[in-house]
Amino acid sequence: MTQAAHKMTARDVSVFYGDKQAVKNVSIDIDMDHVTAFIGPSGCGKSTFLRTLNRMNDTISSARVEGAITLDGENIYSSDMDVVQLRARVGMVFQKPNPFPKSIFENVAYGPRIHGLAPSKADLDLIVERSLKRAGLWEEVKDRLTDSGTALSGGQQQRLCIARAIAVDPEVILMDEPASALDPIATAKIEELIHELRGRYAIVIVTHNMQQAARVSQRTAFFHLGQLVEYGETDQIFTAPRQERTKDYITGRYG
Ligand SMILES: Nc1ncnc2c1ncn2[C@@H]1O[C@H](COP(=O)(O)OP(=O)(O)OP(=O)(O)O)[C@@H](O)[C@H]1O
Ligand SMILES: [Mg+2]
Repeated sequence: MTQAAHKMTARDVSVFYGDKQAVKNVSIDIDMDHVTAFIGPSGCGKSTFLRTLNRMNDTISSARVEGAITLDGENIYSSDMDVVQLRARVGMVFQKPNPFPKSIFENVAYGPRIHGLAPSKADLDLIVERSLKRAGLWEEVKDRLTDSGTALSGGQQQRLCIARAIAVDPEVILMDEPASALDPIATAKIEELIHELRGRYAIVIVTHNMQQAARVSQRTAFFHLGQLVEYGETDQIFTAPRQERTKDYITGRYG
Protein backbone atom coordinates (compact mmCIF):
# COMPACT_ATOMS: atom_id res chain seq x y z
CA MET A 1 0.00 0.00 0.00
CA THR A 2 1.13 3.53 -0.60
CA GLN A 3 1.67 5.75 2.41
CA ALA A 4 -1.29 7.89 1.40
CA ALA A 5 -3.61 4.91 1.81
CA HIS A 6 -2.92 4.93 5.55
CA LYS A 7 -4.49 7.62 7.71
CA MET A 8 -1.16 8.25 9.35
CA THR A 9 2.32 6.88 8.88
CA ALA A 10 5.49 7.25 10.92
CA ARG A 11 8.85 6.45 9.35
CA ASP A 12 12.04 6.21 11.36
CA VAL A 13 10.76 8.54 14.05
CA SER A 14 13.15 9.35 16.88
CA VAL A 15 12.54 11.73 19.75
CA PHE A 16 15.23 13.27 21.93
CA TYR A 17 14.94 15.22 25.18
CA GLY A 18 18.20 17.11 25.09
CA ASP A 19 20.80 14.38 24.55
CA LYS A 20 18.60 11.58 25.76
CA GLN A 21 16.81 9.52 23.13
CA ALA A 22 13.34 8.47 24.28
CA VAL A 23 11.99 7.06 20.98
CA LYS A 24 14.19 5.11 18.54
CA ASN A 25 13.45 4.83 14.84
CA VAL A 26 9.79 3.95 15.12
CA SER A 27 7.85 3.19 11.94
CA ILE A 28 4.15 2.40 12.09
CA ASP A 29 0.95 2.80 10.08
CA ILE A 30 -2.32 3.98 11.63
CA ASP A 31 -5.57 3.26 9.82
CA MET A 32 -9.16 4.46 9.93
CA ASP A 33 -11.80 2.28 11.58
CA HIS A 34 -9.19 0.72 13.83
CA VAL A 35 -8.27 1.09 17.45
CA THR A 36 -4.52 0.77 17.87
CA ALA A 37 -3.20 0.12 21.38
CA PHE A 38 0.29 1.14 22.52
CA ILE A 39 1.56 -1.02 25.37
CA GLY A 40 4.88 -1.40 27.13
CA PRO A 41 6.62 -0.81 30.46
CA SER A 42 6.70 2.60 32.10
CA GLY A 43 9.21 4.96 30.52
CA CYS A 44 9.42 3.07 27.20
CA GLY A 45 8.30 6.11 25.21
CA LYS A 46 4.59 5.46 24.57
CA SER A 47 3.44 8.95 25.54
CA THR A 48 6.39 10.58 23.83
CA PHE A 49 5.68 8.79 20.57
CA LEU A 50 1.93 9.40 20.84
CA ARG A 51 2.60 13.13 21.18
CA THR A 52 4.59 13.17 17.94
CA LEU A 53 1.37 12.29 16.08
CA ASN A 54 -0.17 15.72 16.66
CA ARG A 55 2.99 17.66 17.43
CA MET A 56 2.25 17.96 21.13
CA ASN A 57 6.01 17.59 21.68
CA ASP A 58 6.35 21.06 20.14
CA THR A 59 5.24 22.38 23.53
CA ILE A 60 8.23 20.75 25.30
CA SER A 61 11.26 22.93 24.64
CA SER A 62 13.90 20.19 25.09
CA ALA A 63 12.10 17.77 22.76
CA ARG A 64 13.36 17.21 19.21
CA VAL A 65 11.65 14.96 16.66
CA GLU A 66 13.40 13.29 13.71
CA GLY A 67 11.89 11.20 10.93
CA ALA A 68 8.69 11.60 8.97
CA ILE A 69 5.05 11.55 10.01
CA THR A 70 2.22 11.90 7.54
CA LEU A 71 -1.51 12.52 7.81
CA ASP A 72 -3.31 11.62 4.56
CA GLY A 73 0.12 11.49 2.94
CA GLU A 74 1.05 15.01 4.02
CA ASN A 75 4.07 15.67 6.23
CA ILE A 76 2.77 17.07 9.53
CA TYR A 77 6.18 18.50 10.41
CA SER A 78 6.44 20.61 7.25
CA SER A 79 6.67 24.35 7.80
CA ASP A 80 3.36 25.03 6.09
CA MET A 81 1.39 22.71 8.38
CA ASP A 82 -1.06 24.69 10.51
CA VAL A 83 -0.53 23.15 13.94
CA VAL A 84 -3.84 24.39 15.38
CA GLN A 85 -5.65 22.79 12.45
CA LEU A 86 -3.56 19.62 12.84
CA ARG A 87 -4.56 19.27 16.50
CA ALA A 88 -8.22 19.57 15.54
CA ARG A 89 -7.77 16.81 12.95
CA VAL A 90 -5.70 14.72 15.35
CA GLY A 91 -7.35 15.27 18.73
CA MET A 92 -6.00 14.22 22.10
CA VAL A 93 -7.46 12.98 25.36
CA PHE A 94 -5.17 12.90 28.38
CA GLN A 95 -4.85 10.62 31.38
CA LYS A 96 -6.22 13.18 33.80
CA PRO A 97 -9.51 14.67 32.62
CA ASN A 98 -8.83 18.35 31.95
CA PRO A 99 -12.10 20.18 31.25
CA PHE A 100 -11.85 23.95 30.95
CA PRO A 101 -13.16 25.82 34.02
CA LYS A 102 -16.22 26.76 31.99
CA SER A 103 -19.72 25.40 31.54
CA ILE A 104 -20.34 21.95 30.09
CA PHE A 105 -21.76 23.64 26.99
CA GLU A 106 -18.76 25.94 26.58
CA ASN A 107 -16.30 23.06 26.95
CA VAL A 108 -17.75 21.47 23.84
CA ALA A 109 -18.66 24.69 21.97
CA TYR A 110 -15.26 26.34 22.28
CA GLY A 111 -13.46 24.38 19.54
CA PRO A 112 -16.21 24.54 16.89
CA ARG A 113 -16.51 28.27 17.55
CA ILE A 114 -12.81 29.08 17.15
CA HIS A 115 -12.59 26.84 14.09
CA GLY A 116 -15.63 28.54 12.56
CA LEU A 117 -17.61 25.29 12.29
CA ALA A 118 -20.88 26.80 13.56
CA PRO A 119 -22.21 29.77 11.60
CA SER A 120 -25.24 30.20 13.90
CA LYS A 121 -26.20 29.55 17.51
CA ALA A 122 -28.56 26.80 16.31
CA ASP A 123 -25.66 25.11 14.49
CA LEU A 124 -23.55 25.33 17.60
CA ASP A 125 -26.32 23.86 19.76
CA LEU A 126 -26.58 20.97 17.33
CA ILE A 127 -22.84 20.30 17.35
CA VAL A 128 -22.75 20.35 21.15
CA GLU A 129 -25.69 17.97 21.42
CA ARG A 130 -24.34 15.60 18.78
CA SER A 131 -20.88 15.55 20.35
CA LEU A 132 -22.22 14.91 23.84
CA LYS A 133 -24.44 12.14 22.45
CA ARG A 134 -21.53 10.51 20.67
CA ALA A 135 -19.50 10.71 23.86
CA GLY A 136 -22.32 8.97 25.74
CA LEU A 137 -22.82 11.91 28.09
CA TRP A 138 -25.89 13.73 26.75
CA GLU A 139 -28.53 12.02 28.90
CA GLU A 140 -26.56 12.79 32.05
CA VAL A 141 -25.96 16.47 31.34
CA LYS A 142 -28.69 17.73 28.99
CA ASP A 143 -30.52 19.49 31.86
CA ARG A 144 -27.40 21.07 33.33
CA LEU A 145 -25.42 22.35 30.35
CA THR A 146 -24.63 25.61 32.15
CA ASP A 147 -23.04 23.84 35.14
CA SER A 148 -19.29 23.90 35.29
CA GLY A 149 -17.49 21.04 33.51
CA THR A 150 -15.29 20.65 36.58
CA ALA A 151 -18.36 19.82 38.70
CA LEU A 152 -18.81 16.50 36.91
CA SER A 153 -17.49 13.17 38.19
CA GLY A 154 -14.10 12.00 36.90
CA GLY A 155 -15.64 9.59 34.42
CA GLN A 156 -18.09 12.22 33.20
CA GLN A 157 -15.26 14.75 32.88
CA GLN A 158 -13.34 12.29 30.72
CA ARG A 159 -16.36 11.78 28.47
CA LEU A 160 -16.72 15.57 28.32
CA CYS A 161 -13.11 15.78 27.13
CA ILE A 162 -13.88 13.15 24.50
CA ALA A 163 -16.96 15.18 23.43
CA ARG A 164 -14.72 18.25 23.21
CA ALA A 165 -12.29 16.37 20.95
CA ILE A 166 -15.13 15.03 18.78
CA ALA A 167 -16.79 18.45 18.41
CA VAL A 168 -14.22 19.70 15.91
CA ASP A 169 -14.68 16.68 13.66
CA PRO A 170 -11.32 15.00 14.11
CA GLU A 171 -10.06 12.17 11.94
CA VAL A 172 -7.73 10.67 14.52
CA ILE A 173 -8.15 10.58 18.31
CA LEU A 174 -5.13 9.98 20.52
CA MET A 175 -5.82 8.80 24.06
CA ASP A 176 -3.08 8.53 26.68
CA GLU A 177 -4.31 6.16 29.40
CA PRO A 178 -7.77 7.73 29.26
CA ALA A 179 -9.26 5.48 31.93
CA SER A 180 -6.39 4.94 34.34
CA ALA A 181 -7.69 7.53 36.81
CA LEU A 182 -11.23 6.10 36.74
CA ASP A 183 -13.12 3.46 38.70
CA PRO A 184 -14.12 0.18 37.00
CA ILE A 185 -17.62 1.35 36.05
CA ALA A 186 -16.41 4.63 34.53
CA THR A 187 -13.64 2.66 32.81
CA ALA A 188 -16.16 0.26 31.30
CA LYS A 189 -18.12 3.25 29.94
CA ILE A 190 -14.99 4.68 28.31
CA GLU A 191 -14.15 1.31 26.77
CA GLU A 192 -17.68 0.96 25.43
CA LEU A 193 -17.42 4.44 24.00
CA ILE A 194 -14.09 3.68 22.28
CA HIS A 195 -15.74 0.63 20.79
CA GLU A 196 -18.60 2.74 19.42
CA LEU A 197 -16.33 5.49 18.10
CA ARG A 198 -14.11 3.10 16.24
CA GLY A 199 -16.03 3.20 12.97
CA ARG A 200 -15.68 6.97 12.58
CA TYR A 201 -12.09 7.66 13.49
CA ALA A 202 -8.64 6.21 13.74
CA ILE A 203 -8.11 5.81 17.48
CA VAL A 204 -4.79 5.30 19.20
CA ILE A 205 -4.86 4.43 22.89
CA VAL A 206 -1.99 4.06 25.33
CA THR A 207 -2.81 1.67 28.14
CA HIS A 208 -1.09 -0.23 30.92
CA ASN A 209 -4.06 -2.50 31.20
CA MET A 210 -3.56 -5.52 28.97
CA GLN A 211 -7.12 -6.72 29.31
CA GLN A 212 -8.17 -3.28 28.17
CA ALA A 213 -5.86 -3.41 25.15
CA ALA A 214 -7.26 -6.83 24.30
CA ARG A 215 -10.85 -5.65 24.71
CA VAL A 216 -10.78 -2.37 22.80
CA SER A 217 -8.10 -2.66 20.13
CA GLN A 218 -7.72 -4.48 16.84
CA ARG A 219 -4.00 -3.79 16.60
CA THR A 220 -1.38 -3.61 19.30
CA ALA A 221 2.08 -2.08 19.29
CA PHE A 222 4.53 -3.18 21.98
CA PHE A 223 7.21 -0.65 22.90
CA HIS A 224 10.33 -1.34 24.95
CA LEU A 225 13.23 1.02 25.70
CA GLY A 226 12.09 3.48 23.04
CA GLN A 227 11.77 0.86 20.31
CA LEU A 228 8.70 -0.51 18.64
CA VAL A 229 9.40 -4.18 19.24
CA GLU A 230 6.32 -5.70 17.65
CA TYR A 231 3.17 -4.47 15.92
CA GLY A 232 0.35 -6.68 14.78
CA GLU A 233 -3.22 -7.84 15.14
CA THR A 234 -4.15 -7.68 18.82
CA ASP A 235 -5.11 -11.37 18.90
CA GLN A 236 -1.76 -12.38 17.49
CA ILE A 237 0.22 -10.15 19.86
CA PHE A 238 -1.57 -11.58 22.89
CA THR A 239 -1.77 -15.21 21.84
CA ALA A 240 1.25 -15.75 19.61
CA PRO A 241 3.81 -12.96 20.04
CA ARG A 242 6.72 -13.30 17.63
CA GLN A 243 9.29 -11.53 19.76
CA GLU A 244 10.65 -12.84 23.03
CA ARG A 245 10.43 -9.40 24.62
CA THR A 246 6.72 -9.12 23.77
CA LYS A 247 6.07 -12.53 25.27
CA ASP A 248 7.94 -11.62 28.45
CA TYR A 249 5.90 -8.46 28.81
CA ILE A 250 2.46 -9.88 28.17
CA THR A 251 3.12 -12.81 30.50
CA GLY A 252 4.04 -10.31 33.20
CA ARG A 253 7.72 -11.05 33.43
CA TYR A 254 8.51 -7.36 33.58
CA GLY A 255 6.83 -4.01 33.43
N1 LIG B 1 9.33 16.34 29.25
C1 LIG B 1 10.34 15.46 29.34
N2 LIG B 1 11.61 15.89 29.51
C2 LIG B 1 12.63 15.00 29.61
N3 LIG B 1 12.47 13.66 29.56
C3 LIG B 1 11.24 13.19 29.38
C4 LIG B 1 10.10 14.05 29.28
N4 LIG B 1 8.99 13.28 29.11
C5 LIG B 1 9.42 12.00 29.12
N5 LIG B 1 10.76 11.93 29.28
C6 LIG B 1 11.59 10.71 29.32
O1 LIG B 1 11.39 9.99 28.11
C7 LIG B 1 11.27 8.60 28.36
C8 LIG B 1 9.93 8.11 27.83
O2 LIG B 1 8.90 8.70 28.61
P1 LIG B 1 7.36 8.54 28.26
O3 LIG B 1 6.61 9.43 29.18
O4 LIG B 1 7.18 8.71 26.82
O5 LIG B 1 7.13 7.01 28.64
P2 LIG B 1 5.78 6.17 28.77
O6 LIG B 1 6.01 4.90 28.04
O7 LIG B 1 4.63 6.99 28.40
O8 LIG B 1 5.75 5.85 30.34
P3 LIG B 1 4.48 5.69 31.33
O9 LIG B 1 3.92 4.35 31.02
O10 LIG B 1 5.09 5.74 32.70
O11 LIG B 1 3.54 6.81 31.06
C9 LIG B 1 11.44 8.42 29.86
O12 LIG B 1 12.79 8.10 30.09
C10 LIG B 1 11.12 9.77 30.42
O13 LIG B 1 11.81 10.01 31.61
MG1 LIG C 1 2.97 7.73 29.42
